[in-house]
Amino acid sequence: MPSLLFTPLRLRGVSFKNRIGVAPMCQYSCHDGLASNWHLVHLGSRAVGGAGMVMVEASAVSAAGRISPADLGIWSDAHAAALAPIAQFVAEQGAVPAIQLAHAGRKGSTQVPWQGRQAVPSEQGGWPVRAPSAVAFNDAYPLPGEMTESNITQVVDDFAAAAQRSRAIGMQVVELHMGHGYLMHQFLSPLSNQRTDAYGGSFDARVRAPLRVVAAVREAWPQELPLFVRLSATDWLEGGWDVAQSVELARRMKALGVDLVDCSSGSIVPGSQGQAEPGYQVPFADQIRREADIATAAVGLITRADQAEAILQRGQADMVLLARELLRDPYWPLRAAAQLDEEAGWPVQYLRAVSATAKS
Ligand SMILES: Cc1cc2nc3c(=O)[nH]c(=O)nc-3n(C[C@H](O)[C@H](O)[C@H](O)COP(=O)(O)O)c2cc1C
Repeated sequence: MPSLLFTPLRLRGVSFKNRIGVAPMCQYSCHDGLASNWHLVHLGSRAVGGAGMVMVEASAVSAAGRISPADLGIWSDAHAAALAPIAQFVAEQGAVPAIQLAHAGRKGSTQVPWQGRQAVPSEQGGWPVRAPSAVAFNDAYPLPGEMTESNITQVVDDFAAAAQRSRAIGMQVVELHMGHGYLMHQFLSPLSNQRTDAYGGSFDARVRAPLRVVAAVREAWPQELPLFVRLSATDWLEGGWDVAQSVELARRMKALGVDLVDCSSGSIVPGSQGQAEPGYQVPFADQIRREADIATAAVGLITRADQAEAILQRGQADMVLLARELLRDPYWPLRAAAQLDEEAGWPVQYLRAVSATAKS
């Protein structure tokens, strides 16, 4: 029986050669938000390693939407131009080039992780941050200003413009980052959204800004290309965002033209992470897939080929995304193919390393 992991997947006009995706992973390695050789080699290596989709890390839709001063961005044509060789190289390897579009909201203007997450002072390049409500993530993070309606409209426009730029450079999937406690998740969760206007309070009000972003991006992004959304399916906390709300949101997003929900969890407030164990977020992908009737991606501690295959065989997701395991081993997809008795598809340049009898 052929594996499902290596059965191509089609979403709209895009064909994925297998169901393994490189999850978005911030590298915190930019000056002024511009992609560098690091990004080309890092992402290019994973395309050479056989992934069916390679997703560029959270890319800020505005300078103020960065998490740290070293974040990647796509807020101008110069930023898009720096990303163009990545989209081209990834596609040349037969992988689908994808990009995650993001705005950090109240988690912006913080130091890179290896310098300890805390506010960046303005004299070191920090900037004022905005969020649905004027509540900081914790004492070390910046205190955000409350967003006005026109601030929200600006963010909607910034996401749409970033999608247009993504298209112009040959990206084939856009994923909207609506999880991990960043701006869109800050609107969704009652733990961060304390607004009393049309954007806070009821479920309908909390999903309003994210759905405006979805609608604007779908309009800017070609009909033949798939649109993904990453959600934190649950806040893991009483009174927070939960899976039932994720299901209802997924239904509404599907009606607006979202093709796949990438199911992560947590990170809206300190200590909202959940118990990480192998495949711990797979049940969210499963439930949202069944109850909202939409394609899903499973992510989180997926490290083995048989585990990934079983997730697909059980119908819990349509795609698996790997992050840290693909940092440890960019050739994971090629090894997984061998383990599942599939044609591995090593690059022709490397074939002499695959055959044990190869001679010069
Ligand atoms: C170095 C690193 C950077 C990350 N950056 C992002 C990011 O840009 N956007 C995002 O949605 N998730 C980000 N994540 C989370 C991953 O996409 C993934 O959801 C998480 O690591 C769980 O998958 P794993 O167990 O395979 O690592 C990052 C994770 C790591 C390890």
